[in-house]
Amino acid sequence: MHKGFIDLHSHWVAGIDDGAKTAQESLEMLNGLAEVGFGTVVATPHMRTGMFDNSRADLEHAYQQTLQQLESHEVRPAVQLSCEHHLDDLVFRALMAGQALPYPGGKAALIEFPYDHFPLKHTQRLFELRCKRIRPVLAHPERYRPVWKNIEVLDPILDGGTVLLLDLGALIGAHGRGPKKCAHQLVEEGYYYAACSDAHRPKDALAAARGIERLYQLLGDEEAEFLLVQGPRNILEGSVED
Ligand SMILES: [Fe+2]
Repeated sequence: MHKGFIDLHSHWVAGIDDGAKTAQESLEMLNGLAEVGFGTVVATPHMRTGMFDNSRADLEHAYQQTLQQLESHEVRPAVQLSCEHHLDDLVFRALMAGQALPYPGGKAALIEFPYDHFPLKHTQRLFELRCKRIRPVLAHPERYRPVWKNIEVLDPILDGGTVLLLDLGALIGAHGRGPKKCAHQLVEEGYYYAACSDAHRPKDALAAARGIERLYQLLGDEEAEFLLVQGPRNILEGSVED
């Protein structure tokens, strides 16, 4: 199997959100993801008003601390820091003001919606990000209830230049039946641009491994590998074609 997958969504920074609780968990998660084939794992701890009220400085501090605690251990994938931005008023404002954490290089940013509805003005906000030359990368669209009803609800977002990121675990039912069914539909209809682990616990690396296996069955080698290597690389390099 290819060993250069790029994971654009994971929660391995310790003690800052609902991801890894300790550096030991961080270590197990990172090396588990390396085992699965991820050569690069970008940490994307949450910024979400009222739930994870993290500033950019909080995330940078926690990232450095986790790395320090891992110093004497062998960490196998290359690591980087970004953030999963919930598209609420405050987080959106922070992103627009340059006080959030787009992907390294600043050409794209990971965005999440609430599960049960699309946020107000989401199309406009995603467009405003594009105007700032930050490409929105929408996390786990398969988890959003409006998408379960009709995947075409995503079309205006795609037309505006947002790309969609599959959570691999969804394909094997790690998040329940709704996301599983929806993820299959979105894979078959070619909606995704990249795939990730969204790992919160060391065991999530196994779910990602099984999801990767399923992805290869569904799409064949070339297309599956695009979602795991070239798609994420294009996002980081700012070379996604409209
Ligand atoms: Fe996440």
